[in-house]
Amino acid sequence: MFDVTRRRFLHGLGAAAAAGTVAGPARALAAADVTTLLITTSTVEVLGRTVEMLDVLQPNGTRGITTTVGSRFRVREINKLGVPTLMHWHGLTPPPHQDGVPIVSQPALPPGETYEYDFPLTEAGTYWMHSHQGLQEQSLLSGPLVIKDPADDALGEHDVVVELADFSFTSPEQVFANLLRPATPQPKPLTPVAPGKMPPMKRDANDVNYDAFLANRRPVADPEVFRIESRARVRLRLINSSSATNYTVDLGALTGTLVAVDGRPIAPVKGRRFGIGIAQRCDVRVETPGPGVYPIFSVREGDTPRSVFVLASNGANVPRYTATSPFVAPYNDLVLEAQLRATLPLAPRKADRTIAMNLTGDMAKYAWTIDGAAWTDELALSGKAPFLGVKKGERVEIVMQNKTMMTHPMHLHGHSFQVVAIGGQRFGGAMRDTVLVTPKATVTIAFDANNPGWWFYHCHNLYHLAAGMATSVRYLSG
Ligand code: C2O
Ligand code: CU
Repeated sequence: MFDVTRRRFLHGLGAAAAAGTVAGPARALAAADVTTLLITTSTVEVLGRTVEMLDVLQPNGTRGITTTVGSRFRVREINKLGVPTLMHWHGLTPPPHQDGVPIVSQPALPPGETYEYDFPLTEAGTYWMHSHQGLQEQSLLSGPLVIKDPADDALGEHDVVVELADFSFTSPEQVFANLLRPATPQPKPLTPVAPGKMPPMKRDANDVNYDAFLANRRPVADPEVFRIESRARVRLRLINSSSATNYTVDLGALTGTLVAVDGRPIAPVKGRRFGIGIAQRCDVRVETPGPGVYPIFSVREGDTPRSVFVLASNGANVPRYTATSPFVAPYNDLVLEAQLRATLPLAPRKADRTIAMNLTGDMAKYAWTIDGAAWTDELALSGKAPFLGVKKGERVEIVMQNKTMMTHPMHLHGHSFQVVAIGGQRFGGAMRDTVLVTPKATVTIAFDANNPGWWFYHCHNLYHLAAGMATSVRYLSG
């Protein structure tokens, strides 16, 4: 099994940015600075079983891409699978036809075929890539997409990139079929309540029974260990690539500083625990105070199952950890969100267009919709899919009201947005690409309509999306 991140870590950071060798004749792109991404398979070992999952690897085994701001995203994507696929560059703002969403931006990539991408990378940050085809994301078809700022090199930090994933031995198609079948409801996870504490608000969460939670595709029994000197500064780049799980990240003995969310900088927030929603990223700076072992856990919301990765000084022994947290993670809420302040916010401006949106659904029928309408491929192919019309140059605000009892991680493609109000209370919140809208909450986002095209806008819970919880943004002419 590859252990690419650890190797890259030990051998210094610079080499990671180098592109893999490009096989075959150069096509539209010159070979020199092209990164090849193979959409392929690799194995993971979970609970004593070795299973083949999907993966995105450079020819030298590097997962995903690490590159530098100011360079271009020159990528050759080759489909080595026997089925169509298509990678989406989550959080980037490419031209619309390079966004990697089947039907909306480009056709899915057939088996054996190649797509090429070439656009400028203007913002540093922690992003990620994942298949937007069918339910492939649940089969772990995702990877990091880290855009470094060379100015950060002077900080002398280790970069630790970690993808959090929810894992099931059951095929994603079967998981989805089980959710759609009301006759066989999945057992609810146990949510014990600590004595003297208020019981958590009654809500629906964690509707999939996962077999394990992984960090960099590794289970708790065999965690990835990042070896560091005894006093080290580390930038954790945490990516929640899970299909349907929100977490609390628990830094254990360390205190961290949250410096960016979804790749975009915020005024620093100190803490030991941070929520991370589906598809979101958190950049957390930590400093290890001395020699030792520092496990970092991610605990599923409202529950105790967890994943772990470890920072350890050279020579320190890493103990065994259990897959169960000693504390029940809270449900992810908007308390931290309301405290976040973008350090590079949108320019102050009145909205030219305000759109009200209801997040709607029916848990019993497992029907998830936006304004009561479900997205289907058929509607999209026939040009009849739902959309929100905007015009180039406008400042647009979208007021999302969650009418349901589940949290929806709402993601807009092709733009970054600012969280500008929660429950009608205005503030200059974080710049993001994905925001949690918790049960019955109202969250307002603002963005500048500066990237004309047709853009997907959807709930990032994979099964809600599969059920149709999506709409789109379309630029109107004139
Ligand atoms: Cu992370 Cu529509 O994507
Ligand atoms: Cu949802």
